[in-house]
Amino acid sequence: MLYIFETPKSNARFSLKLHLITADVVIDAVKQEKFDMALLKWDKTYAVGIKIVDDQHAGLFDSLNELHSAMLKGDVNAVISPMLQDLLAYTRTHFSAEELMLAKAKYPDLAEHQAKHRKFAAQIAEYAERHKRGETALSVHLIDFLRKWLTDHILREDRAYSSWLAQSGMRF
Ligand SMILES: [Fe+2]
Ligand SMILES: [Fe+2]
Repeated sequence: MLYIFETPKSNARFSLKLHLITADVVIDAVKQEKFDMALLKWDKTYAVGIKIVDDQHAGLFDSLNELHSAMLKGDVNAVISPMLQDLLAYTRTHFSAEELMLAKAKYPDLAEHQAKHRKFAAQIAEYAERHKRGETALSVHLIDFLRKWLTDHILREDRAYSSWLAQSGMRF
């Protein structure tokens, strides 16, 4: 930008063009950065200490970030349906893996944990159904719900079982 002020008057047209190009590049970069900005970043705060579970949780964050990025780009109506189906399938895979481990380790709060998983899956299925029925403006609520549910569930319920699994001596 400083270059523009240093350009001689005879090059005013060139400097204006340069200015516009620079502005476009900056705006594009800002937009891109905004679109690519992750809503949720997995870090050790969310770790339950079992690699497969931590990887799946990070994968769920990625799915949510993709949905969020599509919303910022204005593409969300075109992708929300397949994204919701993918998210639902991935969530079910993850829940089954988690419940299997908890059952093997005889986790005392398994039934309660399972009920929370079922309720979440039902809520996502309901969002998908509402979208199918043509309800619009769902994405903001959905993304907010997902972000809140995932972080709360991992930080509370999932992290709560990690010490039980660690002391069970089982390897997962
Ligand atoms: Fe869980
Ligand atoms: Fe989980």
